[in-house]
Amino acid sequence: MTIKEEIERRRTFGIISHPDAGKTTLTEKLLLFGGAIQTAGAVKSNKIKKHATSDFMEIERQRGISVATSVMGFEYKGVKINLLDTPGHEDFAEDTYRTLTAVDSVIMVIDCAKGVEPQTRKLLEVCRMRNTPVIVFINKLDREGKNPFDLLDEIEKELRIDLRPLTWPISIGKTFKGVYNLYEKSLILFNQGEKQTSDNSFEIKDLNDGTIDEIIGEDFANTLRHDVELIEGVYSEFEREDYLEAMISPVFFGSAVNNFGVRELLDGFIKIAPPPRPRETDVRIIKPDDKNFSGFVFKIHANLDPKHRDRIAFLRVCSGKFERNKNYYHVRENRTMKFSNPTAFMAQEKSVVDEAYPGDIIGLYDSGNFKIGDTLTEGEKMNYKGIPQFSPELFRYVVNADPLKTKQLNKGLEQLTDEGVAQLFTKKTDNRKVLGTVGALQFEVIQHRLKSEYAASCNFEHISLFKACWVSSKDKKKLEEFIFEKSHHMASDKEGRPVFLAESAWALQMAQEKNPALQFHFISEFKEN
Ligand code: G4P
Repeated sequence: MTIKEEIERRRTFGIISHPDAGKTTLTEKLLLFGGAIQTAGAVKSNKIKKHATSDFMEIERQRGISVATSVMGFEYKGVKINLLDTPGHEDFAEDTYRTLTAVDSVIMVIDCAKGVEPQTRKLLEVCRMRNTPVIVFINKLDREGKNPFDLLDEIEKELRIDLRPLTWPISIGKTFKGVYNLYEKSLILFNQGEKQTSDNSFEIKDLNDGTIDEIIGEDFANTLRHDVELIEGVYSEFEREDYLEAMISPVFFGSAVNNFGVRELLDGFIKIAPPPRPRETDVRIIKPDDKNFSGFVFKIHANLDPKHRDRIAFLRVCSGKFERNKNYYHVRENRTMKFSNPTAFMAQEKSVVDEAYPGDIIGLYDSGNFKIGDTLTEGEKMNYKGIPQFSPELFRYVVNADPLKTKQLNKGLEQLTDEGVAQLFTKKTDNRKVLGTVGALQFEVIQHRLKSEYAASCNFEHISLFKACWVSSKDKKKLEEFIFEKSHHMASDKEGRPVFLAESAWALQMAQEKNPALQFHFISEFKEN
């Protein structure tokens, strides 16, 4: 196969949802179709617990799971699918945001009874930042839920996206009959508790002939005719280009737990979802078929065995062909590196790979050379964009609990924050270290991992902050004045960039109003003025 063909047959995506909408169940069904797992329950039993826990064994267990299920690769109808796992737990939201930088499209799962939920909203914002194409899967049709037209209206309004249903449900809950495939003009019947087979699919060339009345009864048939007429009147024709430009999201209905509507979703997905797309660097746009290899690190995972301090850096291949044992250029460190045992993730198993193509995710063993966002190339000095850190919302001072282990503590903090577990800021006036996270669980993770992996101990002291945001300005003098004036509220991030620690929404607003020459940024990636 040529590189071009390899690229064309790859689909790298993530599933996003508010917890409980059915992401794990859908993942599992997709893997079953792809033959990546043999039994239902394989993913489910590995699921990260939904509720925050202070049980360290649980945290460790979760870390183990998230290595195993970080990337699930499988083949389906000649297409190489890479499904990237996004943690459902809210405290790991930042991990999810970063993973979304490595996908080419997403499937968003929505519970038909609950509609749009807070996490759905946040995750969609992240997709919007990168214009990621979104397919919507409306789940749990076997349960009572909202009227599908109302639900689509709600999604369109709340998420500010345009939708186009590609399948349509016939009734819902106890009387759920199945879905009508608006494109293939076929009816797929739902038999609760039974596996979906091709036997319960009927081709319906003309909705007005009597066949459908015989199958689902006259009332349901009439409602369907009426619905389809409405859909065709209200929603514009589905154009793949619009979806690829993230202007329209196709919608599928089904019930993941019953494996219903999942095949239609997967078949639709491989037909329309984008293969690897060009990506922006700080130098130029790189096309996947660029002859040179390039990629970026979007996730770093520490080894669970504290005796082996190595980590796995997850790299998304963006262009060219990655080859084992070849020298590549680590742009930030300005040196070459080669990898003798890069791993691929197929069917939840890790195996050493000799080559990888755009869209693939490979695991690189790392002894502390990588940070999230690092770029590897064949020599070109460029950096992939769009892997920002978000301004954290929870803060604690780090207090060294064992002065004899200061070095270990500093190293541990440095490395754990490279992994993206939290963000580290150093206060300007007293050099105190402040950790910022998006979830409370992260503080426990850090404390625990510092102890077990670095033999360092720390305590946390409360610091009352509203937000930390990066400050920049074209006017260097104004920026310096601000930093001087606010020195008690200023810190530096790991790159030495100035960060304003706002104590309240009001303080932030005042600072913004009084300093119109300054820009306050809420994600770490911004154009330096
Ligand atoms: P998540 O990863 O998005 O958090 O959701 P998950 O798949 O774990 O699903 C959440 C719950 O919803 C599970 O029930 C799951 O079985 C159920 N579910 C998923 N899809 C459907 C569906 O199509 N119809 C119905 N009725 N339920 C569905 P649970 O009670 O939390 O877990 P379990 O005991 O069933 O495993």
